[in-house]
Amino acid sequence: MNFKALNAAVVVCGALVCSGAGAKELTIGFSQIGSESGWRAAETTVSKAEAKKRNINFKIADAQQKQENQIRAIRSFIAQGVDAIFLAPVVATGWNAVLREAKEAKIPVVLLDRDIDPSGKDLYLTAVTSDSVHEGKVAGEWLVKTVGSKSCNVVELQGTVGASVAANRKKGFEQGIAGHANLKIVRSQTGDFTRAKGKEVMESFIKADGGGKSICAVYAHNDDMMVGAIQAMKEAGLKPGSDVLTVSIDAVPDIFKAMAAGEANATVELTPDMAGPAFDAVIAYKAKGTTPPKWIQTVSKLYTGADNPQAVYESKKDLGY
Ligand code: AHR
Repeated sequence: MNFKALNAAVVVCGALVCSGAGAKELTIGFSQIGSESGWRAAETTVSKAEAKKRNINFKIADAQQKQENQIRAIRSFIAQGVDAIFLAPVVATGWNAVLREAKEAKIPVVLLDRDIDPSGKDLYLTAVTSDSVHEGKVAGEWLVKTVGSKSCNVVELQGTVGASVAANRKKGFEQGIAGHANLKIVRSQTGDFTRAKGKEVMESFIKADGGGKSICAVYAHNDDMMVGAIQAMKEAGLKPGSDVLTVSIDAVPDIFKAMAAGEANATVELTPDMAGPAFDAVIAYKAKGTTPPKWIQTVSKLYTGADNPQAVYESKKDLGY
C-alpha cells in the first residue's frame, strides 16, 4: 500500500473496525425501552444520528416498556451475531441470565441511561449514564434554597417502579432536603415517567389534599410527568410556577415552554446523547481492545427561569424530543 492509500485507509478506519484483511462495518443492536417520554424519543433520534455519523449499521428494537420484550430483543441480536448490544434497562433486576448469554457469545453490552443491579457488573462492558442520585440531590438543594425557612409540603411523582433512575432520583432528593425539617414529602407515587400518568397522579394528590392548597412544591422524576402535573394543577385552579413550585429532571423543550410561561421553575438536564460515547467506546474496544471505564458519566446541569427559558426552548425544539 502506498502512503496515499494508507492515509485513506486510516480515515476510513475512523468509523469502521479495521483488521489486517480490511475494514468491517459494525452492526450494533439497541434494545430501547419505548417512547414513554420526550427525553426517550430524543435519545432514539440522537442515537440514530450518531450511528449514521460513524457508519454503523444500527438496529433498534422498541420494547414498549416491557422487560420481556427487551430480553427477547437481546436474544435476537445474539442470534444475529451483532458486534455489540446497547441496552436501556427498563428495570434494574432480572438481566443476569440474558447478559451471560451475550457474554458467552462474546458480544459486548453497553448500558445506556439506566443501571442494572450490581450483581450484573461483570456482564457488561460499560454504562453511559448520568449520576441520577446527584440529579435528585440538585433538585432537592434547589428547593431548599428557593423555599428558605418557609414550611413546605412536597408531593413527588416517581419514575417507573424498579428503574434505577427512579430509586436514585428519590434517594438523591431526600439527601438534598435532609436536615431541613420545614420541607416534607407528604405524598409520593409513581407516574411511570409518562405525561398522562403524571397528570392522573397529580389529580389524585390534589383531590386527597382537598384542592391542593397545602401543596407547596412538586418534585417529578422527569419533565413529562411534570408537564402532566402542571396541567392537572391548572385545571384545579392552582398556579404552578408561582403558588406551587416545580422541579423536575430531563430539560425537555416543553418544560422550558412552561418555564417561559411562568408555570414551571427548575429542571436538571439529562443529555439525550448517551449513544455517541457508547459507540466510541465500542469502536475503540473492537479496534484496539481498549477497555473503557466501567462508568462513562454524562453531565447534569440545573436550569431555572433565570436561564432564558424561551431561548433554551428555541434551541432544543427541533432536536427530536
Ligand atoms: O432513564 C432516563 C429516564 O427515562 C428519563 O429521565 C425519563 O424521561 C425516561 O423516560
